Amino acid sequence: MAAITSDAAPATGRPHGDGAPVLHCEGLKKRFGSRQAVDGVGFDIGPGETYGLLGPNGAGKTTTISMICGILARDAGEVFVDGERLDVGTTRAKRLVGIVPQDLAIYPDLTALENLDYFGRFYGMGGAALKGRIREVLDVVQLTDRQRDRTAGYSGGMKRRLNIAIGLLHNPRLLVLDEPTVGVDPQSRNAILSSVETLGQEGIGILYTTHYMEEAERLCDRVGIVDQGRIIAEGTRPELVQLVGQTDKVSLGATGSLQAAAEAMRALEGVQEVTSREGGLDVIVPDASTALPALLAAAAATGTSVRSVEVVEPDLEAVFLHLTGKALRD
Ligand SMILES: Nc1ncnc2c1ncn2[C@@H]1O[C@H](COP(=O)(O)OP(=O)(O)OP(=O)(O)O)[C@@H](O)[C@H]1O
Ligand SMILES: [Mg+2]
Repeated sequence: MAAITSDAAPATGRPHGDGAPVLHCEGLKKRFGSRQAVDGVGFDIGPGETYGLLGPNGAGKTTTISMICGILARDAGEVFVDGERLDVGTTRAKRLVGIVPQDLAIYPDLTALENLDYFGRFYGMGGAALKGRIREVLDVVQLTDRQRDRTAGYSGGMKRRLNIAIGLLHNPRLLVLDEPTVGVDPQSRNAILSSVETLGQEGIGILYTTHYMEEAERLCDRVGIVDQGRIIAEGTRPELVQLVGQTDKVSLGATGSLQAAAEAMRALEGVQEVTSREGGLDVIVPDASTALPALLAAAAATGTSVRSVEVVEPDLEAVFLHLTGKALRD
């Protein structure tokens, strides 16, 4: 496993890793017939940390979190939430977890308020405490103004947001979200992403699965890249990007003697590759910020005028491609 570990603070600066982990899991395995869906997955999530499982369709994300939440019996492995062992049969530890499943679980004939009241009572809540908590979770998912509408008339994204509110109702220590933005409208997607950001800042642990690289990059303090039932790499975004080998692509929009400029740039120390294209040059360097002055000087010296500069750093998509040889998206 190409996993990397580090004591460095998370890229976002959010607190994590203080005290006992909110989630500790190790050695998780699940086989369906001849298919090893999950093959030895383990990781920790600290308080206030958002951890992403990023992987393509069929990688084993849902199977992994189903075992973590105690919905699915595991063939091997252990799960602890806030230090308490969680198995299919345990109720105590399960109450520390809020689940937002990939498939919706709400009652279409009821309003949002009625749905939340129903699920709250199911969790043994009631009275003013439940009322107050319902108000809070509706606010988190930005559905307060639609709380008295039947959910049958909600958009897919609004239903998904209500599902998140239900998952939060009983004040879980760990919130598990399974690809919550798949198939939702852009407005709801934004509402969901900002809810997750707010929750992370409030200190609960979040386990977020997605096959959208941008979401993992935006939300997650650390990411586990999953492929074929294994975590093939883990770390903060900068740590993961380093696996690709530290390279930036500098795209220069330029006119003039591009060939001469390309040649001059190739001679510069640290420049790995220069390709000329219609209207400019693409230069691969270890670090764009240190290379840029010399690149611009080389352009000027060869009579090339640079009109635009764009720096593209490698992203998690590039990391996945580097590690597996295939694209994250289908
Ligand atoms: N109940 C089941 N019976 C048989 N095979 C299953 C079952 N659940 C999952 N699988 C298989 O296990 C593998 C992992 O599936 P899983 O649903 O965990 O992937 P995923 O990463 O969540 O994918 P997606 O992004 O499509 O949701 C897949 O090959 C899937 O077909
Ligand atoms: Mg899934």
